Amino acid sequence: MISVHRCRRRLHRDGWDAKMRSLIQLLIPERIPWFAAGLYDRIAQDAVESYYKPVAEEIVAAMNRGLILDIGTGPGYLPIEIAKIAPQVTIQAVDLTGKMIRLARRGAREAGVSNRITFRVGDANKLRFGDDSFDMVISTGALHAWKHPVRVMRECLRVLKPGAEAWIYDPAHVVTKRTEEYLRHNLGRIDRIAYKWASWSTRGTEPLTGDRIRSILERLDCMETRVEKGRWLKIILRKHDPPARTQEQ
Ligand SMILES: C[S@@+](CC[C@H](N)C(=O)[O-])C[C@H]1O[C@@H](n2cnc3c(N)ncnc32)[C@H](O)[C@@H]1O
Repeated sequence: MISVHRCRRRLHRDGWDAKMRSLIQLLIPERIPWFAAGLYDRIAQDAVESYYKPVAEEIVAAMNRGLILDIGTGPGYLPIEIAKIAPQVTIQAVDLTGKMIRLARRGAREAGVSNRITFRVGDANKLRFGDDSFDMVISTGALHAWKHPVRVMRECLRVLKPGAEAWIYDPAHVVTKRTEEYLRHNLGRIDRIAYKWASWSTRGTEPLTGDRIRSILERLDCMETRVEKGRWLKIILRKHDPPARTQEQ
């Protein structure tokens, strides 16, 4: 039996942990800082086969032509994989961190797809795109970092064409066992700082719970929301269809 004393101690500890988490979340910026971009890039590169390729294939199976927006693109592995297998797709991709955008542009050039992907610095909270612009909006591994997820999802819906969908995957499965092993032995000075920063900051940005996701989705005005918990957690938002034309119109 758990004693009252132990219960009280546990409650106190859990409460403190939650307060620490909120404080860290308040303090850390949404973006991955420039000094951590190189480390993230190397970790993500290791997950191309296991993560980005299968996610890209899933997306292309649903949308093999048209204009896609990727938000929080990081070093751009997902849009690059999409562009490689879907020649009729063009992609706009934004991230808050300039260093990520530079890495992504280089990756696209090396993969020979830079003519179909435009990477630029941009904030998902206020997208610089017009209403009804995109056939699909995608995002991987960024939702947990957004301080205002409802605002970001409303922006996704605003820029989507009527009836189109946003697919938001989170968390991204980029850290494999091999990567962990590599990290243990191969970190330079900046990388060690970045690694410490990442370990500390992730305490304030844990993956969203089912309850939190439900409360976010309840605040959106869209035709349909779905949460899929298959190989990866995926949130789907479907924008309202265009209003039906009446006889007089
Ligand atoms: C964990 S990384 C994921 C990157 C990439 N999508 C992937 O799956 O590898 C999250 C990225 O989202 C970016 N980000 C966070 N908040 C953002 C915002 N409000 N607008 C644009 N990018 C944002 C960060 O700078 C970071 O590069």
